[in-house]
Amino acid sequence: MSFGRALPAIIVAGLGLWALFLASCSTFPQSTIAPPKIDGATFVGNKACAECHANFARAFSSNPHARLQFEGAPHGQHAGCESCHGPGSLHVKAGGGRRLIVNPGREPQACFNCHLDVHAQFKLPQHHPVLEGRMNCVQCHDPHGGDIFQASHRTALGVRPGIGFARLNESCAECHREQARPMVFQHEALREGSTTCHQPHGSIADKMLVQRDNNLCLKCHAQVATLGGQIFIGETVHTTFLSRGACWSAGCHTAVHGSNIDRKLRH
Ligand code: HEC
Ligand code: HEC
Ligand code: HEC
Ligand code: HEC
Ligand code: HEC
Ligand code: HEC
Repeated sequence: MSFGRALPAIIVAGLGLWALFLASCSTFPQSTIAPPKIDGATFVGNKACAECHANFARAFSSNPHARLQFEGAPHGQHAGCESCHGPGSLHVKAGGGRRLIVNPGREPQACFNCHLDVHAQFKLPQHHPVLEGRMNCVQCHDPHGGDIFQASHRTALGVRPGIGFARLNESCAECHREQARPMVFQHEALREGSTTCHQPHGSIADKMLVQRDNNLCLKCHAQVATLGGQIFIGETVHTTFLSRGACWSAGCHTAVHGSNIDRKLRH
């Protein structure tokens, strides 16, 4: 099994593989390069995998990877399973086993072969510790399901009732319980989903925020200037407050996810 560790190596090897393996690439995004490589192995197609791994194949047909095709797969067959696991002929010939196949649960590099932009996001100063090996993609993405934006362990547990959060928040809540607790004064922004404010992979801003200044809040809360030069946000004059810094870090609205005591989310 071999795929490049260093980014330049991936790009160089990747372009070669692109030419060799990608048969139909009309729908491929620019960043798509190639599946992981396994020395001496060829593509066998999804059907061959389903013979032994029927449980993984069941919901797979609506997965965004299901219809990927690579040269060498039996004629007319999709090789979506092998887009992440690498060509499977040697694994199938050996009757399975843990060797001769890539497991991207342990090697997220297998995903980065194609999702270069995501790799770059995880290298930004504030990021989820995936490259450090403390987390992996499947804690937020179900690689085999029809809905890849759902954490796999949540599919098994079913959807947690009661909180009324968007799906995305529920997968975040698996680890960040504090932010997802029901509150007396819930910040309605949470209904829009965590990605309204957070870049889930990584960002240059503290707390992986999508914006580091007041614009983060002002995209929903209009800032209105009166003729007298006063600045209102909501019903409150904010003229002097705004010079103190960001709405949440200047000591004002510190309880951004919600508060049990203050409707204005100040503590
Ligand atoms: C002949 C039956 C058979 C076929 C066909 C087969 N597998 Fe497997 N596979 C197995 C067995 C057995 C294991 C070992 C399971 C275990 O140890 O728990 C396995 C393990 C795996 C693993 C886990 C490897 C690891 O390191 O954890 C992956 C991934 C995998 N198979 C993917 C595939 C893919 C993709 C295909 C199609 C290209 C495929 N398999 C075809 C029998 C098969
Ligand atoms: C988007 C990438 C992706 C695709 C496509 C994909 N897998 Fe996987 N597969 C993974 C990841 C990631 C894991 C590790 C899951 C984990 O650690 O929980 C995995 C794990 C596995 C395992 C080992 C499970 C275990 O418990 O050891 C098998 C078997 C497997 N996949 C088979 C398949 C088959 C069959 C298909 C096609 C129907 C497929 N995969 C398509 C990413 C993918
Ligand atoms: C062989 C290339 C390849 C590999 C390897 C690969 N992907 Fe993908 N992935 C794609 C393509 C192509 C799409 C479809 C993109 C589109 O429709 O814009 C996609 C789509 C996705 C999407 C949905 C994107 C969207 O906007 O709907 C997610 C999430 C994703 N992949 C995660 C993963 C994860 C996690 C892994 C590793 C476990 C992985 N991918 C491995 C090629 C790949
Ligand atoms: C902390 C949870 C989390 C982890 C861990 C995570 N993702 Fe994501 N990912 C998300 C969420 C949430 C979105 C949806 C973003 C949006 O809608 O703006 C997303 C979007 C994506 C997309 C589509 C959009 C894009 O930026 O291209 C891809 C591809 C993707 N993730 C791949 C991966 C891969 C590969 C890994 C592992 C190396 C991974 N993700 C790990 C939460 C996560
Ligand atoms: C599998 C567990 C897990 C999931 C799921 C998860 N996170 Fe995290 N999150 C972590 C870990 C681990 C850290 C790093 C904490 C550290 O380094 O001390 C972190 C850090 C963060 C931070 C930075 C916190 C700080 O104080 O700087 C934010 C913001 C965050 N996550 C948001 C999210 C969002 C949004 C989602 C859902 C899309 C999510 N997380 C899903 C485990 C998770
Ligand atoms: C996705 C949209 C959205 C974003 C982004 C957003 N909010 Fe909100 N916020 C709302 C909605 C909707 C309400 C409830 C209706 C209202 O009071 O305006 C609300 C209510 C509030 C309230 C209570 C107002 C009151 O008088 O009861 C405060 C305080 C607040 N937000 C602060 C912030 C801060 C600080 C930020 C930036 C960190 C922010 N909001 C970002 C949508 C958003």
